[in-house]
Amino acid sequence: MIDSETSWSQHADDYEQLAEPLTLPYARKLVDQLGVSVGDAVLDIGCGTGAAAVCLAERGARVHAIDFAEAMVSRTRDRLAACTSGTTFNVDCMDGQALTIDESSKDAVVSNFGVVLFPEFEKAIQEMLRVVRPGGRFGLTSWVNPSRLNHMAKWADAVREVADPHFEFPQPIGWIATETIEKVTDLFRMLGVVDIEIREHTTTCSIRSVNWFVERFNENPLALSVYESFAPQLPRKIGQRFRDLLGQSQEDGPFDISTTAIIATASIQK
Ligand SMILES: C[S@@+](CC[C@H](N)C(=O)[O-])C[C@H]1O[C@@H](n2cnc3c(N)ncnc32)[C@H](O)[C@@H]1O
Repeated sequence: MIDSETSWSQHADDYEQLAEPLTLPYARKLVDQLGVSVGDAVLDIGCGTGAAAVCLAERGARVHAIDFAEAMVSRTRDRLAACTSGTTFNVDCMDGQALTIDESSKDAVVSNFGVVLFPEFEKAIQEMLRVVRPGGRFGLTSWVNPSRLNHMAKWADAVREVADPHFEFPQPIGWIATETIEKVTDLFRMLGVVDIEIREHTTTCSIRSVNWFVERFNENPLALSVYESFAPQLPRKIGQRFRDLLGQSQEDGPFDISTTAIIATASIQK
């Protein structure tokens, strides 16, 4: 289950190797677009293995990072401790949909591919707004529709070819609500935030090999939640087909994955 804390915790090591190279370029862009001053108190929700938290610390922010998966929290804590910027930080295991953090206590709050995946997305957004002070900053990133993400589209093809031609992929409500610039603009206007800036970016990441990628992708929480509906022998076959589709034109050496995401920032009204 994509919303299961155990599932995310079990995959923290793979997450850092497989997924963070895809999320990190956007974390950097998000932090740049947000604009952070030295000493700002900034909350990172759904911190994972620390992509945005580390970027924030490198810019001198006082980072508070939270995630509901203990292994993610532990990894982010180690990475922030190793940061040479020397800023203060804390990392807590916490549900991002029910923060135990005081109202208006942060200068800024971000979530890099975090809240958009939470089952109670609207509650998580309200929590983000609650903890930022008037005039503070607010930012999130979200992937575009999976059909526009080449590796996700190929995986969907593999699932449909091998397991079920009519399979309907679950897409979290927060992702659907933020998958285009227009949708995020509507959402932000409804939230009453100001200084809205929403951009779409594409980045390319070099992956060490198709085999390496597929092996890990096939075990990630999203893939496992889909495989729960299928017979036990099918995930391996889906993985084989996915590898063929990704590797059609290449040997099993490094290959590039291009992704596109929305980066959205705003200010809370004074
Ligand atoms: C796609 S990862 C993003 C991680 C990181 N921000 C990054 O950019 O790489 C989503 C993260 O949200 C966390 N998460 C999922 N549901 C959560 C919840 N209800 N409360 C807090 N964290 C949650 C997961 O454990 C996972 O680390």
